[in-house]
Amino acid sequence: MKHAKLIMDRDYAIGEIDPRLYGSFIEHLGRAVYGGIYEPDHPTADEEGFRRDVIELVRKLNVPIVRYPGGNFVSGFNWEDSIGRRDQRPRKLDLAWFTTETNEVGLHEFCHWAKKANTEVMYAVNLGTRGPDAARNVVEYANHPSGSYWSDLRIANGEKEPFGIHLWCLGNEMDGPWQICHKTAVEYGRIANEAAKVMKWVDPTIEVVASGSSGHGMPTFGSWEYEMLGECYENVDYVSLHRYYDNKSNNTPDFLARSMDLDSFIHDVLAVCDAVGGRKHSKKKLNLSFDEWNVWYHSNEQDKEIVKQGRWNRALPLLEDIYNFEDALLVGSMLITFLRNADRVKVACLAQLVNVIAPIMTRNGGGAWAQTIFYPVMHASMYGRGTALRPIVHSPVYDCKDYEAVPVVDATATMDEEGNVTVFAVNRDLAEDAELELDLRAFGGFSRMEHTVLHHDDVKAINTEEHPFTVAPSPVKTEGITDKTLTPVLPALSWNVIRLIR
Ligand code: AHR
Repeated sequence: MKHAKLIMDRDYAIGEIDPRLYGSFIEHLGRAVYGGIYEPDHPTADEEGFRRDVIELVRKLNVPIVRYPGGNFVSGFNWEDSIGRRDQRPRKLDLAWFTTETNEVGLHEFCHWAKKANTEVMYAVNLGTRGPDAARNVVEYANHPSGSYWSDLRIANGEKEPFGIHLWCLGNEMDGPWQICHKTAVEYGRIANEAAKVMKWVDPTIEVVASGSSGHGMPTFGSWEYEMLGECYENVDYVSLHRYYDNKSNNTPDFLARSMDLDSFIHDVLAVCDAVGGRKHSKKKLNLSFDEWNVWYHSNEQDKEIVKQGRWNRALPLLEDIYNFEDALLVGSMLITFLRNADRVKVACLAQLVNVIAPIMTRNGGGAWAQTIFYPVMHASMYGRGTALRPIVHSPVYDCKDYEAVPVVDATATMDEEGNVTVFAVNRDLAEDAELELDLRAFGGFSRMEHTVLHHDDVKAINTEEHPFTVAPSPVKTEGITDKTLTPVLPALSWNVIRLIR
């Protein structure tokens, strides 16, 4: 049995956790919208055509904010196409995914859905084919009370009260050559600055996210942030980061260590943000919006064929990754990494939410079920609220192909308003259990411990519509709390949620 130790004290704190750390993302892509959240002919559809079974799962996941409508899609999207009478909305070719967008679901419908799902909208504006003018108009349409062209049009379209969208993305992945109207860092920085300025003139209460690198490995990484922020630092509130991992080489120890890259990505971007702030003698500190993150690779090959066969069709089954158990473990470690950086990472959006690289899957006309990655996301969102603690972690380490000294036990802890503590821990060891000694120092006073484990003997195990609970969490029997030190056992390859309750 391996041994690790976590030393915690209420005074060792990273900071307050922004609830938006548990955000997600719905793009007009594949079956995320059509066949995902919206399917008017489905037996569970409500009066607006939204699937109630999907809403129920989204509520379970406890998602505070959902980024919308893209993604790559947004860089060719005219937001005006998505408002007004549905039967008059245009069908348009979507050059991001080579499908047809019918605009049956648009701004009003999505905001209604968000309310039903207990979440808020984070809206992305198009800085690819469009620019500051369209951006300030959509802010006026969504947030201005009344008495102007766009706000009165919203009212005429049935929405008296403003939508009150607070967080806005200034385009998407503008550093990527695949983006519709990709730009250089300076070109983008200039447009982002002017868009942010006029959007905030329309509604000074909003916050905006500048588009950072679409990956740590981008050839322009670092210089993109430095040059782009040189243009817009004072007018933006967050910089975005995007990161997807894969296990194409089928090397589980290496794959599970990828959260080490995530951590250095976060620190590298912060270093650049602070360097720009320093150069500008600015008092302002920029925070981060990690608004796309996940595992993504299972569907890559099949997608090539799907697009070849079905080019320009509506709602093709794209990016439908079927997640296995080891994916859930890496997702758990990614969440732990965000919590460890909660002082500067304020927003994070799991990409995406339904069907498209998603924790929730549906069948058209059929069921909806939770994939393996659903569970760590749900646990973190349920219990990882309040204060992110800064525990001292002692763990044995291992070396693998791409990383050295990877902690076998990856762990962190949070404390809620009632003083209950939650420890999140991944045991990365393929074969050995690990006892995790919890040294509670000045904490004490807990009445009971609850321990939930996500484990499967087969790292490739998946959930399906027929067998939706193959990989699902289960409670572990725990001893009563006797003193200030506890030693729960983390099974080999497992995600663990240990709650110390007052
Ligand atoms: O989430 C899928 C895609 O990944 C998004 O559209 C894009 O922003 C990223 O490349």
